[in-house]
Amino acid sequence: MHIDLITVVPGLLEGPFSHSILKRAEEKGIATVRIHNLRDYATGKQKQVDDYAFGGGAGMVLMIEPIARCIEALQKERVYDEIIYMTPDGETFDQPMANTLSQKKNLLILCGHYKGVDQRVRDAFITKEISIGDYVLSGGELAAAVVADALIRLIPGVLNDETSALTDSFQDNLLAPPVYTRPAVYEGREVPEVLLSGHEAKISQWRFEASVRRTQEKRPDLLKDSGWE
Ligand code: ADE
Repeated sequence: MHIDLITVVPGLLEGPFSHSILKRAEEKGIATVRIHNLRDYATGKQKQVDDYAFGGGAGMVLMIEPIARCIEALQKERVYDEIIYMTPDGETFDQPMANTLSQKKNLLILCGHYKGVDQRVRDAFITKEISIGDYVLSGGELAAAVVADALIRLIPGVLNDETSALTDSFQDNLLAPPVYTRPAVYEGREVPEVLLSGHEAKISQWRFEASVRRTQEKRPDLLKDSGWE
C-alpha cells in the first residue's frame, strides 16, 4: 500500500510514522507513506495557501489552487483508489471501513485546517470523506494518522503475529477478552486458572465467553449486529 498525505503542518504527521509498527511496515516495504507540504505547491512570495471565506465569518479557508496543483502532480505518478478528505462532517470511521480501505493499493489523504477547504476541492477531487468521531480537531492531521495506523496494521505481514489483527476488538462485533501476563499472582489478584492450564480448546472457549460478557457490559449495542446474542 502507498499513502500520500497532503498537509499544511507536516510536523504533525512526521512523528506517528517514524515509530514502532508504522516504521517497521515502511522498512519492510509493505506500506509507504509520503507527507506533502501544501505550501510547496503555493505560488508568490507569501506562499499563500489560505484566504478569508467569501461572505465573511471567522476562520480561514484552504484555497483550491495549491491543492489542485498538488493533487494533479501526485496523480501523474499513480492512480488513486480513493482521494480522502478528513473532516468532522464525513462518514464515521470504523473497523469495517478500515478493513475495506486496508485492501487498497494507493490512497491520497487531504488534511483540512482552519475552517476547512474550498468546497470546490471536495466537489472536484474527493472520492471519500472521513470523520474519526463527533468532535472537532484543529486539523485533519491527527485524524489522518489514526486512519493510516488502523489501515496499515491490517496489511498482512505488518504485525509479527499474523493472527493478531483478526482477534482485535470489533473484528467480529465483539470486544477483545481480558489479557494477562506474568506474574500469575499479583498482591492476591490471580490470573484465571484456565489460562494457565495449557488446554487450548478450553482457553478458546473461555476467551469467547469473556468477549461476549465484556461486550454485554461495555458495548451492548455491538451485540445487536453480531449474531452472538
Ligand atoms: N478534522 C477536524 N476534526 C476532524 C474529525 N473529527 N475527523 C476527521 N477530520 C477532522
